[in-house]
Amino acid sequence: MKLLIVANWKCHPKTLREAKLLFNSIIKGVKDIDAEVVICPPFVYLPVLKATGAQDVFWENEGAYTGEISPAMLKNLGLKYVIVGHSERRKYRGETDVMINQKVKASLAQGLKPILCIDKISQIPDNLGKGAVIAYEPLFAIGTGQTCGIEKAKKMRLAIKRRVGAKTLILYGGSVSSHNAQEYIMGAGFQGLLVGGASLRPKEFVDIIKNVCYR
Ligand code: PGA
Repeated sequence: MKLLIVANWKCHPKTLREAKLLFNSIIKGVKDIDAEVVICPPFVYLPVLKATGAQDVFWENEGAYTGEISPAMLKNLGLKYVIVGHSERRKYRGETDVMINQKVKASLAQGLKPILCIDKISQIPDNLGKGAVIAYEPLFAIGTGQTCGIEKAKKMRLAIKRRVGAKTLILYGGSVSSHNAQEYIMGAGFQGLLVGGASLRPKEFVDIIKNVCYR
């Protein structure tokens, strides 16, 4: 099975010009590599870049919800994946497990694959639908350069697998770099990666992908 490598650009970059440059250099760098690479830019760049992932979504498909972007809109734009429940949205936007689970359900109902970010098993809903992806992101490792030990990561992956079954893809995220990526895939057995900071540096991001794919 192909590895799933997701780039979470967060609130970067500031101009469309930079976004195009970054996007194109990543695409060029990975064109001969056998992995599923999904880039999640800010919403405003999605239609121009024809990216396949978004960083968030609302739970209703349309209506009087100022500022929201719906699963139907993303699906109709040709997207395949959407990150939900990222720890930064939990922290800065007050998203709760209830809200996040609504987003997971609404995305699946539109045929979008939600990438549900968690740092605790209890954040996984009881009936996670088919097609959802889990990203284990230990809070202390997100954007800090501090890495999670391989044994701990592996233990969590196995606990998540017991909870969601073997058919659900499980990714690792949190300060992934070209130096540690292999350990999470080959050592801890994750089926892909969710990469933040390093996905803004095209060479580093492409190196991460090469390091886990050419094995
Ligand atoms: P990081 O971010 O790679 O910069 O730690 C990961 C994430 O927030 O998804």
